Amino acid sequence: MATAASSLHAANGNERFNNEAANWDNNPFVHEASRQALKAILAKFPALKNPPGENGLDVLELGCGTGLLSSIIAPYAKRVVAVDAAPGMIEVLKTKLQKPGAPQNILPLAVLLEDANDKRLPPADEFNPDGPRLKFDLIISHLVLHHIPDLRQVLNTMQDCLKHSGWVALTDFEDAGPDSKSFHARSRMEGVARHGIHVETMEILMNEVGFVNVNVDRAWSMDKNVEKVDGEFGDAGRAAQAGQGQRKARQLNMFENTTSGVRH
Ligand SMILES: C[S@@+](CC[C@H](N)C(=O)[O-])C[C@H]1O[C@@H](n2cnc3c(N)ncnc32)[C@H](O)[C@@H]1O
Repeated sequence: MATAASSLHAANGNERFNNEAANWDNNPFVHEASRQALKAILAKFPALKNPPGENGLDVLELGCGTGLLSSIIAPYAKRVVAVDAAPGMIEVLKTKLQKPGAPQNILPLAVLLEDANDKRLPPADEFNPDGPRLKFDLIISHLVLHHIPDLRQVLNTMQDCLKHSGWVALTDFEDAGPDSKSFHARSRMEGVARHGIHVETMEILMNEVGFVNVNVDRAWSMDKNVEKVDGEFGDAGRAAQAGQGQRKARQLNMFENTTSGVRH
């Protein structure tokens, strides 16, 4: 169940992401990061196949934004349920899905996902719409965990959403010390719960909540143009003119693991 505190936080974060939704896809960094995430995920999960075939995977993306990763993983999956707490992000995704050539196996949902039994998730059996909700073979979540105040809670929710021995593949940037704060420009700090993910902390947490075979890879790194001085980019959030900002290498990690299945 959503707590008052977490819902309040999400509402605040929503405001930022709703405002950014229309221009989200104009940032080349997020496209490249999603392409790199797909590459890392495909390398880990050979069951993802293009075309997916009879036994294709049911994939859930938590925090899909405008669906950049959902759209490029869809050809490898039976279906993708693409969930985001910000309705503005989901509206952009819905518009994109109406365009010719867009994948037809994505279900976009504006949901702050905190409960695997949330009735807005699709049912496991289409002939029993009020019955148990669909469970997933694979849950992905990309550049989202650093926005979530209670990581333990979201990992528990993910476990509850998985099929027996389903997998999660989570990608986010690394908390590599004080410098990690510069990942976000000052005007983009709303809704940021932490400045990246600390690898060992995440590994421990995932084991504690009951995942097994926990594995963390530094899957790739990307350069990002970040503020030289706090607030340099102003409201734009990114360099508006030549000479602004400085390039910094950002490590992006992949946390990969399966559940023991005992929770279902
Ligand atoms: C930095 S954006 C990343 C969006 C997308 N994954 C991308 O890489 O383009 C983080 C997104 O996570 C969403 N979000 C955060 N917590 C969430 C939750 N518990 N359930 C669903 N969406 C969530 C936000 O609304 C926001 O759109």
